[in-house]
Amino acid sequence: MITARAPATTANLGSGYDTFGAALQRPADEVTVRRAAETTISVSGVGSAGIPTAPGENTAGVVAETLDAPAAIEIQKGVRPASGMGSSAASAAAAAVALNELYDRGLSRTELVSVAAEGEVAASGEVHADNVAPALLGGFTITRPDGTTVVEPDLSLVVCLPEEVVPTRAAREAVPESLSVSDHVETVRNAATLTVGMCRSAPALVGRGLDDPVVTPARAALVTGYETVRERALAAGATGVTVSGSGPGVLAVARSETQSAVAQAMIDGFATAGVDAEAVQTSVGGGATLVDTA
Ligand code: HSE
Repeated sequence: MITARAPATTANLGSGYDTFGAALQRPADEVTVRRAAETTISVSGVGSAGIPTAPGENTAGVVAETLDAPAAIEIQKGVRPASGMGSSAASAAAAAVALNELYDRGLSRTELVSVAAEGEVAASGEVHADNVAPALLGGFTITRPDGTTVVEPDLSLVVCLPEEVVPTRAAREAVPESLSVSDHVETVRNAATLTVGMCRSAPALVGRGLDDPVVTPARAALVTGYETVRERALAAGATGVTVSGSGPGVLAVARSETQSAVAQAMIDGFATAGVDAEAVQTSVGGGATLVDTA
């Protein structure tokens, strides 16, 4: 029996659509695997009722298929599904680490990124690694087709989760198919600013670099109360705000001394819009780990 844990993640960070990601110090999923003739999946924990258990429809099941590693898979959800915190990626990353160990496949964490990314197809219909890369490797990640670059900043974050669901597929359909040169210039400027901010653990630069004129405005329209939440968070000291992943979670960059106030301001902002929400006060954290190899 092998158990692995993989963290929640926040993808895109505004200006880095399908490219940037960051591991969150909490929450996390745990996946326990045992050898079996055929893959079976059971799910417990946060939001487990809505998660498919057919292996072909579950990210962990697809990972087992990709690794040719049939197993009885138990998923303990700590990351709320369809929240914008990489819930399906956390399960895929933890399953990849656990099954790699169970079947002694000998793949490195970096090599497991493409394996876990296959699992994401089950959740969104497309391969994208910007959640699974930080879930496996930790830190702030820049995902490219030829590999992933990792930086490990010290950075306080808040992710506020409204009691609403935005399926990743719907959020991807909302993304515009083209952009103007001026929007391209602004996006590059912001992405570069954010990257420097991550290298320096500088919340002001990271916050400014979250701005994005293309993807975020289209997706913010799917999140009830987004503008109010954004304004309240900035007034409480956040250095930047954007949609977390494909939403509906909202990500704010904070300083450690403003983190609690930003979290409360975001909850209040959603309440003003008539939406219940919870805020997770977290930071950029590490990647997937083996928990138990009994
Ligand atoms: N980059 C992905 C998206 C992350 O925004 O659609 C969500 O899974």
